[in-house]
Amino acid sequence: MFRTGSGRTHETGPAAEALRLVRVSRTYGTDDSAVTALDGVTLSLARGTFTAVMGPSGSGKSTLLQCAAGLDRPDSGIVRVDGTELTGGGEAALTRFRRGRVGFVFQQYNLLETLTVAQNTVLPLKLAGRKVDRRRVREVLTAVGLGDRLGHRPDQLSGGQRQRVAIARALVADPRVIFADEPTGALDTRSARDVLRLLQEAVRVHGRTVVMVTHDPVAASYADSVLFLADGRLAGRMDVPTPDAVAERLAHLGDDVTAGV
Ligand SMILES: Nc1ncnc2c1ncn2[C@@H]1O[C@H](COP(=O)(O)OP(=O)(O)O)[C@@H](O)[C@H]1O
Ligand SMILES: [Mg+2]
Repeated sequence: MFRTGSGRTHETGPAAEALRLVRVSRTYGTDDSAVTALDGVTLSLARGTFTAVMGPSGSGKSTLLQCAAGLDRPDSGIVRVDGTELTGGGEAALTRFRRGRVGFVFQQYNLLETLTVAQNTVLPLKLAGRKVDRRRVREVLTAVGLGDRLGHRPDQLSGGQRQRVAIARALVADPRVIFADEPTGALDTRSARDVLRLLQEAVRVHGRTVVMVTHDPVAASYADSVLFLADGRLAGRMDVPTPDAVAERLAHLGDDVTAGV
């Protein structure tokens, strides 16, 4: 039921663009120890789409996500989220931007152990100095299946429940784009499926844009399309991905770096 189309028609043109990267490069270290993690990546993602990013370990997936989300700064190139350019501004502007417009979900949840589920969820709002609407917080936590756990602490929750708190935390500020880096990497199959369905629902029902790094072809098949990375460059794209087709493409990634672009 989650895989059927929403029936929404996407606008076209720049206004419909949730994320745009133009020739984004990021090199770590200097001279002999320099590693080019991203090498001139250009891409455009429409609003209301769910995109998976795949590629071998070290191909630049996390760097791509962090640059796109404003957690890291590219050395060159342009990053635009929902029409606003991220690159070029100062540190304070970047932080403000990040708190207002993007949500991030990490593999290891990144919850604060001393805070309750509700407190963890509202943290981004508090940091952004925004008003906390308790009804909205309860609504978001109920939507991820944790309506009866508001006062629990992370150590009283399973991994899947923790990740659902992290998703609620990412959703509560109404971000334009949600970035998730291996969000199911530490979860069992059933919890992973719950998390993937929530991300899919954020897109299909609420019209958000999700970009998710994963190494799992089944997880990738929940997305509308898959972008493949190899050596810091885009190495292909697949629409309407199936687990088998994704696994097949991954196995041959690097055979021909321009395949599918
Ligand atoms: N903070 C860092 N310092 C130095 N090198 C890094 C850093 N982060 C990533 N790298 C290097 O950049 C490349 C891409 O890393 P990453 O984006 O984490 O890849 P992936 O997420 O696809 O595994 C790798 O060679 C990695 O070792
Ligand atoms: Mg990574």
